[in-house]
Parts: sequence; structure tokens; C-alpha cells
Amino acid sequence: MINDIERVLLSEEVIREKVSEVGKRISDDFAEKDPIFIGVLKGCFIFMADLMRHVSIPCSMDFMAVSSYSGASSTGAVKINKDLSQDVVGRHLILVEDILDSGVTLNYLKNYLLVRKPASVHIVTLLDKPARRKADLYADYSCFEVPDAFVVGYGLDYNERYRNLPYIGILKPEIYS
Ligand code: IMP
Ligand code: MG
Repeated sequence: MINDIERVLLSEEVIREKVSEVGKRISDDFAEKDPIFIGVLKGCFIFMADLMRHVSIPCSMDFMAVSSYSGASSTGAVKINKDLSQDVVGRHLILVEDILDSGVTLNYLKNYLLVRKPASVHIVTLLDKPARRKADLYADYSCFEVPDAFVVGYGLDYNERYRNLPYIGILKPEIYS
């Protein structure tokens, strides 16, 4: 597994510090708002688990599962595989994503949620890859901006592998080309 990584982009320590900082910021911004954190599976699972341990305000959590990607290139189509399990009318929603790439997935999800009349929808992403943005979308909270390379680890996969790497690394191009 490690031999497939070209280089480590973000170490465990660097991630830990940043995630803690963002968790505290969100706690300040959403105190008294009882937000619902909505994790976008599967990529969010490690990031969200760590982030939530730095959120110190009353809140709840839910998950959605979508597929938009097959291998290393986006298909542009978004399919909802698991929907919310609660009503969100009048609630403050915070979408938790692993990476904001073209923005197609989150743009679709944001609009999908807005139809349900929440009080607000915000986005927190672990990684932001602005070079590839197609949708007019930004993250309200972004931990790291990354270059236009395919990254894996800390929840992010290539064909379902590498999610369990504890850091974020750039995948060797020969693995996916
Ligand atoms: P978007 O719709 O293009 O913004 O794609 C979002 C989804 O594509 C993310 O939730 C990831 O699952 C996947 N993705 C995009 N870039 C990468 C990458 O560099 N590594 C792993 N997954 C990625
Ligand atoms: Mg993925």
C-alpha cells in the first residue's frame, strides 16, 4: 500500500492540528444553533469522526451516501444511495465532505437539501482542490487546499482502497493511468 504513494502531502500531525482548530471554530459559530452535521459517505468517515470530537456544542449527526465517481475521473452524475433519516425543516445543516473537487457532488447535495427548507446549509471540507472546480461553489470551512493531483488516505479512496492510510498522500499516477 505504502509503495503506491508518491509522497505524503499531509501528515497525521498536521491534519490533527487543523481539524481541531476547525472544530473549535464551528463550535463558536454554531453555539445555540443545535446544528445537524451531515456526513457524506464514505469519504467523510475518518474526518468526521475526528472533527466531531472537537465540536463542543449540542448537535446531532446524520449521514448521506452518494456516488458520483468511478475510479479517478468524475462521471458528473450524482446518485443518492442513502438519504437523511430525519426531518430538517428549520434546522441548521453542516455538510461534511472529504474533498471538494469539481464541486458537482456538493452542489447537487446543497440544492437537494435546500428544497427541504432548512434554516441554513454550510459546507465543511477536509480538502479543497480549486483548480478543478466546475460548479460555482465554495466551502465555508476548508482545512487544506491541495494541488491538482489524486490524493488518498484518511478516508479518501482510489477504487475503495487506501482509505485506511492515517495520512494523506499523492497516489502514484501509474496506479490509475
Ligand atoms: P466532485 O463532485 O468532483 O467535487 O467530487 C467529489 C468526490 O470525488 C469526493 O467526495 C471524492 O470521493 C472524489 N474525489 C475527488 N477528488 C479526489 C481525489 O483526489 N482523491 C480521492 N477522491 C477524490
Ligand atoms: Mg471516493
